[in-house]
Amino acid sequence: MIVCLCEGMNDAALREVIRGGCATVTDIARRTRAGSHCGACGCDLKRLLAEEARLDGSEARPGARSLAAK
Ligand code: FES
Repeated sequence: MIVCLCEGMNDAALREVIRGGCATVTDIARRTRAGSHCGACGCDLKRLLAEEARLDGSEARPGARSLAAK
């Protein structure tokens, strides 16, 4: 499913960059440019970040994902 229409990025590609260390919407925007244009996908990007944090158990440990990915 396309999440960011401006960059044509789907949820699978965005989940991959989140698993690769992006922990915030700003991180995602810097790496992919998704969320850096109209901003309409911002809520969906936050939802994906929350879902991925829940899946890997790092939700209660801010920054743990980016440290683990290095
Ligand atoms: S839909 Fe993502 S920045 Fe416009």
